[in-house]
Amino acid sequence: MTTLGILGIGHLSEHLVAGWMRSADAPELLLSPRNAEKAQALAERYGLRVVANNQALVDQSEAVLLSVRPWHALEVVNSLSWAPGQTLISAVAGLPLADVQAAAPQTKVTRVMPIIAAAVGESPTTLYPEDTLTRALFAPLGPVAAVPDEARFDAANIAHCYYGCLYALMEQAETVMAEAGLDPASARLLASQATRAAATMARDHHREPLDETTAAIATEGSFTKLGLDHLQQREALSAWAEACRVIHRAIREA
Ligand SMILES: NC(=O)c1ccc[n+]([C@@H]2O[C@H](COP(=O)([O-])OP(=O)(O)OC[C@H]3O[C@@H](n4cnc5c(N)ncnc54)[C@H](OP(=O)(O)O)[C@@H]3O)[C@@H](O)[C@H]2O)c1
Repeated sequence: MTTLGILGIGHLSEHLVAGWMRSADAPELLLSPRNAEKAQALAERYGLRVVANNQALVDQSEAVLLSVRPWHALEVVNSLSWAPGQTLISAVAGLPLADVQAAAPQTKVTRVMPIIAAAVGESPTTLYPEDTLTRALFAPLGPVAAVPDEARFDAANIAHCYYGCLYALMEQAETVMAEAGLDPASARLLASQATRAAATMARDHHREPLDETTAAIATEGSFTKLGLDHLQQREALSAWAEACRVIHRAIREA
C-alpha cells in the first residue's frame, strides 16, 4: 500500500481524507501537524497518524500531496529535503508545475485538481501529466482525467470553479421552493436531485448537444421556457459564460 503524506490539512484535505477513508483502495495516509485541531480531529475520526513535522512527513511518504495555499506552497517545498524519485503531487491552484519542480528538482512532480465532492467519491480530478501512481491514488475519489499540457489543465479548472458556483444556483431554487411552502428538507432534496439528474443525463448522453436537450424540454408555452426566457432577457446565461471566462483568465494569469 502506498504511503501518502498530506502537507496542509485544510478544507480540501479533509474532504479528500473522507473520500479515501470510505474506499477499499485507500492509501496509508499521514497528516502534517499544522492546523493541529483539524489534523487531530481527522486522525481521531479515521485512526490516522499526525507526524511530528513536515520533514518527518516527507521522509515517511512515498508520495506527498501539497495542499497548502498558493502563497505558502513554494516556501514549504523549498524548506524540505526530498528523496530522489519521490512523487510530489501539487493540488495548488494556479501554480505551474515548473515552479514546484524547481523547488524540489529530485522529485517527480504532478498536478491534480480535485473538488471537495471527493468526500462522496464524485470528484472529477484533472491530472497533469499522466502518472500511474497519482492516478491510482485519486481514482477512489472519482473519475481521473489526464490532460496533455498545462494550458488544458487551466481550461479544465474552469469546471472546478463552476462546481463551486452551482451551489449558489441551487440555493436560489431551494429558497424559492421553501418560500412557496415546501419544507426546507424537501426543497433541498428536490434542488439537489434535479441538479444531479441533469448532470447524469448530460454525462451519459454526451453526444447530444445541450442546447438540443434544453430546446426539447423548454418547448413553446412551457413553464420551463418562461423561466429560460426570463434568464435570457436579463442576460443571466451569458453572465454565466462570462464568469467562466473571468475564472479562466484569472487562472492563466495567476
Ligand atoms: N478547497 C478546495 O475546494 C480546493 C480545491 C482544489 C484545489 N485546492 C487547492 O488546495 C490548496 C489548499 O486549499 P484549502 O482550501 O484546503 O486551503 P486551507 O483550508 O487554507 O488549507 C491549507 C492548510 O495548509 C496549512 N499550512 C500552511 N502552511 C503550512 C506549512 N508550512 N506546513 C503545513 N501546513 C501548512 C494551513 O494552516 P494554517 O491555517 O495554519 O495556515 C491550512 O491548514 C490550495 O492551494 C488550493 O488552491 C483547493
